[in-house]
Amino acid sequence: MSPADIPIALGNDHAGTELKATLRAALEAAGHPVLDLGTHGTESVDYPDFAAAVCAAVTEGRARFGVLVCGTGIGISIAANRNPAIRCALVQDSTGARLTRQHNDANVLALGARMIGAEVALDALRTFLATPYEGGRHDRRVLKLSPAWSPSP
Ligand code: RB5
Repeated sequence: MSPADIPIALGNDHAGTELKATLRAALEAAGHPVLDLGTHGTESVDYPDFAAAVCAAVTEGRARFGVLVCGTGIGISIAANRNPAIRCALVQDSTGARLTRQHNDANVLALGARMIGAEVALDALRTFLATPYEGGRHDRRVLKLSPAWSPSP
């Protein structure tokens, strides 16, 4: 199984349902398998529940990357980063998406449906998926994001 066969996990709250559907359609059209963990409607829900589901899919290897959408992207990214194995980046455009893959080895992308338009979000998602981690000087810093590391007293 190649990495491209591993699904992209999607999760969102009610504010993110429409943008998530747009992202999902684009992913499927491009041939990416998708694991859509909801929510699927506009009834008010709690974004931490969907962040937790997507992060579990990523850490358990059921998903290659996660994509989270709420109104601002802020709450759902904060929730995602409570999982110690997750490096979730809230980005506003494709530049942020590229740099967080290159420098932070981000494994979850967060987007704010009330903050950016669908075309910008689509560009960010495509860039996120297409950009490899650079390694090298970033390894030392990314290691310091793991729960095993603590700052020297
Ligand atoms: C929901 O109204 C909104 O609070 C949520 O989508 C998100 O923006 C929270 O950070």
